[in-house]
Amino acid sequence: MIEILNPAELARAKVTGALVADILQTVRSRCTVGTNLLDIDRWTQTMIAEAGAQSCYVDYEPSFGRGPFGHYICTSVNDAVLHGLPFDYSLADGDLLTLDLTVLKGGVAADSAISFIVGDSKPAESVALIDATERALRAGIAAAGPGARIGDISHAIGSVLSAAGYSINTEFGGHGIGSTMHQDPHVANTGQPGRGYKLRPGLLLALEPWVMEDTDKLVTDADGWTLRSATGCRTAHSEHTIAITDNGAEIITLPTQAA
Ligand code: MF3
Ligand code: CO
Ligand code: CO
Repeated sequence: MIEILNPAELARAKVTGALVADILQTVRSRCTVGTNLLDIDRWTQTMIAEAGAQSCYVDYEPSFGRGPFGHYICTSVNDAVLHGLPFDYSLADGDLLTLDLTVLKGGVAADSAISFIVGDSKPAESVALIDATERALRAGIAAAGPGARIGDISHAIGSVLSAAGYSINTEFGGHGIGSTMHQDPHVANTGQPGRGYKLRPGLLLALEPWVMEDTDKLVTDADGWTLRSATGCRTAHSEHTIAITDNGAEIITLPTQAA
């Protein structure tokens, strides 16, 4: 089903979006060499509760995971790219970490993901991979103007990733979002301009380019959730929730304070 939000719901979506972004920024600022992924999960659990919000993950039991997720944030390190299940691992210098968070507040969900490098070493290949996913996300948002279709967004994202030399996996992509985390329409990370559902004001979309350095094949970790690159190569993922308005797309998952 495709949900169209009314102005009151859109106002609440912005509150949820700012909360998601602020939690991600706080977690990021606390991540240093030696930080344990389970600490990140506990910090997130606390911040969600303190904000009077609900986790969209803890009880989530989709077909693509094993049993309820049981945690509050996805922590995907290096070759892990999507749905990283937090486990007892302490971050090392140069680790490429993706945090992906979805919460519900006021009946509306928002979803965002950031990738960054932990510590002082900045491997050039990781910097390039993160840069490509962020540019693809910006291109997707820019393509979500008045009169655009889902295919315009998909094409914009895919063009940036392909031009950067990465192959694209279409098993997972962006999605509608609203009263629940995952809704129609699906937003593939590659596609044809002019095709698909026509955007309309009140539509909330999560756009989420993700890339693997040298493969388009995923493997599922023994934990039943974490998706890794089949070759063990590094990976990155960037996601924002955007609201379609009369004037174009508005990013609702921006932090309230500059980093
Ligand atoms: N937030 C993810 C997405 O971008 C979904 C994570 S589901 C989980 O669609 F169960 F793995 F947390
Ligand atoms: Co997400
Ligand atoms: Co998402």
